[in-house]
Amino acid sequence: MRHLFSFDFIFGVDSSQQQIFDAVGAPVVDAVFQGYNATVFAYGQTGSGKTFTMMGPPGLVAGFCDDPQMKGIIPRLVEAVFRFVGQADRNIEFGIKVAFVEIYLERVRDLLDPEKVNLEIHEDRQGSRGVGRWLCLSVPRGRLCAD
Ligand SMILES: Nc1ncnc2c1ncn2[C@@H]1O[C@H](COP(=O)(O)OP(=O)(O)O)[C@@H](O)[C@H]1O
Ligand SMILES: [Mg+2]
Repeated sequence: MRHLFSFDFIFGVDSSQQQIFDAVGAPVVDAVFQGYNATVFAYGQTGSGKTFTMMGPPGLVAGFCDDPQMKGIIPRLVEAVFRFVGQADRNIEFGIKVAFVEIYLERVRDLLDPEKVNLEIHEDRQGSRGVGRWLCLSVPRGRLCAD
């Protein structure tokens, strides 16, 4: 089977994390709040810059970058989502679920639960696929739960 992919954009070596977020991340947040499912998927050989682009350089806490210039797509997406929620009508309640998994050598690892190193991808009765566990945030009441 032949797949066709359209080419949209290539970033230069001097591109900033902000420019990449503006082109790749911000439209995803807009799409999500219009009801679309959206994914930012980084693919490439080891050392090509996936983690740097998605997370940013390592911060004081391993894997967490809060440098305003250097932070990557994921912290910027999270901020954009919560900014949108914070500015929305107070009568709207949002449910936010977070899963954080890594696929490496065809194995799925739950990064929120380091003991789960080889997770199955399961499908629920509605046919949507899931993996690992979810962290659930109910905003604005600020309830945090994990199931
Ligand atoms: N845009 C960039 N600017 C500066 N350093 C970068 C950039 N992209 C990657 N690096 C550095 O290159 C190295 C490999 O990048 P990394 O994100 O770990 O690759 P991958 O996750 O694809 O294996 C890391 O030391 C990272 O800090
Ligand atoms: Mg990496």
